[in-house]
Amino acid sequence: MTTHAESKTVSDEQRAQMLKLVTRSFYKELVNYGVTQAQVLSVAGHLLDNVMQANGETKDDRSCHSQFFKIPDVIDSWGAKKRLAVHDVSILPIDASVPGHVAAWLRSPSAQESFYPRFPQTEQELSRYLVAPTREYFAIRYKDELAGIIGAESIDLGPAKLEMRKLVGDADMRGKGIGKRATFLFLYYAFMVRKFNKVYVYSMDTNIRNLQLNARFGFELEGILLEEAVVRDERRDVVRMGLCEPTWVKLFS
Ligand SMILES: CC(C)(COP(=O)(O)OP(=O)(O)OC[C@H]1O[C@@H](n2cnc3c(N)ncnc32)[C@H](O)[C@@H]1OP(=O)(O)O)[C@@H](O)C(=O)NCCC(=O)NCCS
Repeated sequence: MTTHAESKTVSDEQRAQMLKLVTRSFYKELVNYGVTQAQVLSVAGHLLDNVMQANGETKDDRSCHSQFFKIPDVIDSWGAKKRLAVHDVSILPIDASVPGHVAAWLRSPSAQESFYPRFPQTEQELSRYLVAPTREYFAIRYKDELAGIIGAESIDLGPAKLEMRKLVGDADMRGKGIGKRATFLFLYYAFMVRKFNKVYVYSMDTNIRNLQLNARFGFELEGILLEEAVVRDERRDVVRMGLCEPTWVKLFS
């Protein structure tokens, strides 16, 4: 049986590994931007400058999204309208117009390449894919405009677990907090409405935004699948993260 001290150590180790992973992704991004090895050292110096400037006011509360929303903030009209909302973002079952938008969003290589394995390409294939019995996808709406999709793959009722996938389709819509609100609503649906026990995600090692977003919901690193995918002829690691219901409820109650 795992003692409290042991589980703390395991989770500390996971956090340290996660930090290493994010640092490596950041490093790869810098190299992609054309930053040289010598300049990377300057970047490290600038990072330290930022820490000094923060002058001890580093906001640890940013480490968890529970500072921004809690379970009672969800407007739950699931029973009457099949709709969950928080702030300006809502999720609801997809209708026939959604696959066409998804097909258009996925024409952007960076969107399609974020997924492992990839989504089908055509509207016709997506129409079948998104409503298959082992999946359940929702439209994400921002101020009543379609912004993306979020949903479950590999729904497994035995152990009550599923894989979560999300896409904020229009690049202009990203970075506005839509992804994190939709994720919060989807986790509410999985844990509170459907009573699932576990949600897990696969993410490319370089997808810092997605890694950050998930970590702040309490997702923990479960493992790194070494050189699992190939993107533009380059082998890439895939990260798997998992979140169990008791952890999420404790964080967001
Ligand atoms: C990943 C994705 C869903 C995030 O949605 P989003 O609406 O852009 O994200 P949000 O604005 O809610 O930001 C969520 C967190 O991402 C991080 N983030 C946001 N912008 C970022 C940036 N430019 N660089 C790095 N991290 C960033 C932050 O941690 C942010 O949380 P914070 O605002 O509390 O600091 C969206 O970028 C996307 O669809 N990407 C392509 C598909 C994909 O990668 N899907 C995930 C695979 S399952």
